[in-house]
Amino acid sequence: MARKILVIDDDAMMLTILSKALDKEGYDVYVAKNGTEGLALARASRFDLVICDINMPDVSGFDVLREIKRTSPSTMVINITAFGSIKDAVKAVHMGAVEYVVKPFPLEEMTGLVGRLFNQGEESGDSSRHATGDDVVNSLVCNSEGMKKVFSILEKCAPSESNILITGENGTGKDLVARYIHLKSPRRDKIFLPVNCAAIPSEMFEGEMFGHEKGAFTGASRNREGMFSLANGGTLFLDEVTSMPPELQGKMLRALESREIMKVGGSGFEPVDIRVLAATNVNLAEHVANNRFRKDLYYRLKVFEVNVPPLRERVEDIEPLCSYYVSFYNKRLGKTIREVGPAVVARFKKYGWPGNVRELKNVIERGMILCDSDAVGLRDIPMELFGDVGDALTPGTTLKDEMHNYEKTFITKVLQKVGNDRKKAAELMGIGLSSLYRKMEELGIKSNSPPEN
Ligand SMILES: Nc1ncnc2c1ncn2[C@@H]1O[C@H](COP(=O)(O)OP(=O)(O)OP(=O)(O)O)[C@@H](O)[C@H]1O
Ligand SMILES: [Mg+2]
Repeated sequence: MARKILVIDDDAMMLTILSKALDKEGYDVYVAKNGTEGLALARASRFDLVICDINMPDVSGFDVLREIKRTSPSTMVINITAFGSIKDAVKAVHMGAVEYVVKPFPLEEMTGLVGRLFNQGEESGDSSRHATGDDVVNSLVCNSEGMKKVFSILEKCAPSESNILITGENGTGKDLVARYIHLKSPRRDKIFLPVNCAAIPSEMFEGEMFGHEKGAFTGASRNREGMFSLANGGTLFLDEVTSMPPELQGKMLRALESREIMKVGGSGFEPVDIRVLAATNVNLAEHVANNRFRKDLYYRLKVFEVNVPPLRERVEDIEPLCSYYVSFYNKRLGKTIREVGPAVVARFKKYGWPGNVRELKNVIERGMILCDSDAVGLRDIPMELFGDVGDALTPGTTLKDEMHNYEKTFITKVLQKVGNDRKKAAELMGIGLSSLYRKMEELGIKSNSPPEN
């Protein structure tokens, strides 16, 4: 049965976008445009998850959270907070919210989080648990020598207090590794606070990190805690660390070395007890060589360095990742697909995966949506995966013929799947509507649907 989700937000646009995205994921989605309406719905029916904005005019997100935790403790609550109100977010988590998400966020972040929460709940048989614990640990597939090496380093350095720099291409799993480190450390029951350095405007960076005193600058109408204070006792994860403004790198270094911070406009230092993890997908050493990143800060961050290898260098992980995500998406999509077929796996092993595990995960999800047998077959996989140089085609056919046939079958099938809704089909295939029309004409695909308006 589909999971029931209630989304509460007074921002109509946000409400629409979010509910559509969750609906597309196969959840049973209800919406409420304010806190009063949300609470009424929550009283009338039990939800597996409530996603609720904190800042609403009538009933605040805190009130909604309190009421839901009182009347239906097993309902998970995710709070949405505005950028810059991280203190609210932390308060929400203390009040029992399972997670918080800071606006603006990519939709993928929310859908990914929701999927993870449900998946964990199902595996543990309890949907009220926090997004911590063994779930993250269990969800990490690691079969290859490359990943085993990563984990043997993590075994040693995670329980220590040392700062760790996590490097790797986009989508290799740096985020997951950071959470894993936190969970394997003595701080596991304390806060894990991820901060995306690229998402903070540089003029606000210092205040966001270290906090500010009332009146420190125009607009500072009250005292504010920074990330360092909020993460006190726990782990601060500085994601995309190279995006940190250069002029603040000195101050950051000082904070890491002395474990003391000074608020903007403050007059004295306060001690903080944090462990810092940092991640980057660019070559930080090169940045240092080009004087774009302070060398001393670099060395301070990389007491240990963990490089998560790209997927193409650890093909042994592909099969276990397929099994993991088949069961993951079976639950989400309500399907009973057995496996990703051997021909597809063989193809996957030859592909370069520029988007790494994230890309593989998306391809599996899409394949499972299209699949109408019990195994994801070549037909359910996007054609670009067939375009790799060195692919062995059936002898006697030209590449052009193969591609033509494949494209034709694939597009026809997608169109059938979506009831000839060309717009939807184009979306699903990741191409523009006009490209789809062109392709249909080129391949001689006839569609009976009325033209798009
Ligand atoms: N070893 C793994 N086992 C299972 N899932 C994984 C693994 N590595 C990554 N994933 C999944 O792939 C997706 C991308 O991972 P993650 O966000 O950790 O990557 P990242 O390196 O932080 O990416 P980016 O550079 O874009 O920030 C996530 O959905 C994550 O759960
Ligand atoms: Mg990341």
